[in-house]
Amino acid sequence: MTAVTVRVPAKVNLQLAVGPAREDGYHDLVNVFHAVSLFDEVTVTPGEPGSGRGPVSLSIDGEIGSRAADVPLDASNLAAKAARLLARETGAGGPVRIHLRKAIPVAGGMAGGSADAAATLVACDTLWGTGVPREELLRLAAELGSDVPFPLVGGTAVGTGRGERLAPVPCRGRFHWVFALAEAGLSTASVFAEYDRLRPDAPRPRLDDDLVAALAAGDARALGAALSNDLERAAFSLRPRLRDVLTTGRQAGALGAIVSGSGPTCAFLAADETAAAEVAAALDGSGRCARTVRAHGDVPGTTVVG
Ligand code: C5P
Repeated sequence: MTAVTVRVPAKVNLQLAVGPAREDGYHDLVNVFHAVSLFDEVTVTPGEPGSGRGPVSLSIDGEIGSRAADVPLDASNLAAKAARLLARETGAGGPVRIHLRKAIPVAGGMAGGSADAAATLVACDTLWGTGVPREELLRLAAELGSDVPFPLVGGTAVGTGRGERLAPVPCRGRFHWVFALAEAGLSTASVFAEYDRLRPDAPRPRLDDDLVAALAAGDARALGAALSNDLERAAFSLRPRLRDVLTTGRQAGALGAIVSGSGPTCAFLAADETAAAEVAAALDGSGRCARTVRAHGDVPGTTVVG
């Protein structure tokens, strides 16, 4: 085998309920992940032995423009860590080149780095023929980061613990989304730290029954009303202008508007494709975001496409 390409979706959090900080610094979460049709593609090819570039080399291109410079292409990249972890666990592998074709915004709260790591696990497992069982891939993914297991399964799922323990959530029909992207990213760790400062008394997180019912019924209006994100106030505190972005989308008819994960991407649920186009046009015309992208959910997780 000479090359393997894996397609992997972005996520939006439909509910992100955050408990108090734990002893290990992480937070217990109830995190409802929803995979949307905004995809990165990860291609792995065998590297040349003795090239002096180490066991893993990385390159990048795609729709993220100048933000590509924000993606580290050294050993600290989560995709490089994924390849090394799989090689260590299986004893297989060899030098490998990883190419990231990115459409998921960088440091945008849509788990793009986690998606690339999940795709790299699947791509290297296929390239090396290691046949790692799914449960084991999910365990390795959780070791890499709290958001890495979800892109392996896709669809809609609730994550508990630090977000890595997944159970599927039934989702009917197709939901239409608009995402407003920001010029500069936000660090997940700094948003959680701001959350701790604002909410030292956070209650235990609980799954929202109304949200689950809306998803099962395919009811966009009810889903829009049920969207929630406990990190939103912390994201507003670090980036006050995000409030205006949400207001713009709501005034243009969005059924729900929310900061995606730790932000700064804002997510808007629309009734249908026409309504989504109107929300996107209002946001693009407002000058309050860098640009918009439209997508639908849910969609499947990592898929080998070549
Ligand atoms: O797990 P991951 O490395 O993706 O998490 C990134 C950062 O987000 C952590 O260093 C931590 O600050 C924060 N985090 C958290 N609680 C979680 C998940 C992430 O505090 N459940």
